Parts: sequence; C-alpha cells; structure tokens
Amino acid sequence: MSTPHQQTQPVFSPFSLDNDDLYKRWAESKLRDYPADIGDLVVEIDDPRRLSDSEFVALQQRCRKTNMALYASKTGTDPDPEIPLSIARRFNLVGLNKNWLADETGLTSLTVRDEGVRQHYIPYTNRAINWHTDGYYNTAHQQIRALNLHVVQRAEVGGENRLMDHEIAYIMLRERNPDYIHALMASDALTIPARIEDGKIARKQESGPVFSILPSGDLHMRYTIRVNNVIWASDSLTREALAYLEFILHDTSPYIYRGLLEPGMGLVSNNVLHDRAAFADSPERKRHYYRARFFDRLTGTSFTDL
Ligand SMILES: [Fe+2]
Repeated sequence: MSTPHQQTQPVFSPFSLDNDDLYKRWAESKLRDYPADIGDLVVEIDDPRRLSDSEFVALQQRCRKTNMALYASKTGTDPDPEIPLSIARRFNLVGLNKNWLADETGLTSLTVRDEGVRQHYIPYTNRAINWHTDGYYNTAHQQIRALNLHVVQRAEVGGENRLMDHEIAYIMLRERNPDYIHALMASDALTIPARIEDGKIARKQESGPVFSILPSGDLHMRYTIRVNNVIWASDSLTREALAYLEFILHDTSPYIYRGLLEPGMGLVSNNVLHDRAAFADSPERKRHYYRARFFDRLTGTSFTDL
C-alpha cells in the first residue's frame, strides 16, 4: 500500500485534499475567463534581452493564470544565448539545471544530431515526444519547476507543440474523483528504473509522486505518458487515475493549446505538460530550440498571486 507524500503537504494550499473550501474557491477563480485560444497566451515583444516593464508584466500575468506564456520577439533566427538567459533573469530564475548534455551556458540546444552521444536521445532526433513534464526522472531534490524554450529556427515541416496547464489537469482529475489525486500523490506512484551503462548505474532508480505540493503551496507535477522504462504503482485507483489523465490528454479540449512556434518566439512556463510533433528539417530550416530548465518557479506566479 502506498503512502501519501508527506514531506510537501503544507496546510494552506488549494492542492491539499484536506482543504476543500480553499480548493473550490481557487478552482472557480482559476477557471473564470480561462484563455481558450493559444493566441491569448502570446505577448508581442521587441527584444527579450531588453524586456520593458509592460512586456514583462504582460508575460507574468499570463503565467499567473495559465502557468505559461508565449512571446513573439523581433530577434528572428539570432542564436544569442543571452536571449533566453535574459528572460529567465527577469523571472528570478537562478537555479539553472545544467544537465550533462547542456551547452556551456547551461542552456540545451535541441537540434537533430547525427553523431555523438546525443543522437541516441529522442530530444536530439526529429521524432515525436509524447506528453510529459520535464525532469520527471530527476531526484526529488532536483525537480524542474520552470521550463523555458526559445526558438532560433523551426523545422521545414512539423514540430508543433501542445501545451496544457498542469493545474487544469489536477482540477479535472479532482472533479472526477478526489481519490485519484490521493493516488497520484503517493510517494511510489511513478518509478523510473535506474539507467545502466556499461554494467554500471549511470542514474539511480527514482520513485516519487505525480502531484506534490511545494513549500509555497503551489502544485508540482512529475509525469510522462510513455510506457517503456516506467513503473507505475499497480493499485486499481492509480490505474484508473492514469487512464483518466490519458483520456484528458488525448481529448480535443479547449484546455489543450497547440501551435507552431516561429523563430524569435519562446515559451515561459512553470513546467506545464507538453509534447512535440515529429518534424522534417531542410537545409534552410533546421529546427533549433534552446531549452532552459530551472529549480525555481517563475516569480510572482504563485496561487497566492492570483
Ligand atoms: Fe520537455
């Protein structure tokens, strides 16, 4: 029998199952005038390296509502790493997760690689990546709270992203059956087996909850829809909850945004659910995204700021 994730259960949070009144008030306010179109998330900005106060506020307001915002800047195919790094600084994101395949700046350049170690990992291919939040295989202490993307170049064909606010997924699950939330908060809900390389453990096995509550009272989600190399808790409630979550993500709901990001555009987010369609590059259009992962959330986007 699994146990709830005790470590991150503060009292004052709409995401706690013990606080139904607060949850109801928060959910009502959250869903009121919730943006129905991906265009509602887009803020036109001049240069992300010199974000004006009004541009920043417009981005932050959207993130407060939907945990994400898109910007459309005038930098086009300029590959300057300072573009995503400057945006991150404005949102007080300082804990950059430099994974072992990252560039020197700590950003990760997502492009198709035909050689070297990266070619063996899906992000560096042109294949589709199914629904997930970033860093679900990280340790409990290295969970990714914010995920930003900046587009230097898009693919010739394909490569669209779908996005869904993880708090909306939480609401849909809790409305269906609050016990689903209980099951997905269990400390052994999702286990990623160890990665073995050359007979040695390259990454330890990681078990943890899908939903957890941060010390701020905000919600964190750790999830992948993939079936290989993932061990789910086997009780029937967890299975039902997962089936319903998959149904939500496969549905044509107005809560799922879908779009193709053009050069100069980017995503600022509290690590929302996302996927990527397969794509095909051409010599003129070779897809290049910068990805930045942080241990912090975007500043001023807590539920208490709503
Ligand atoms: Fe991702």
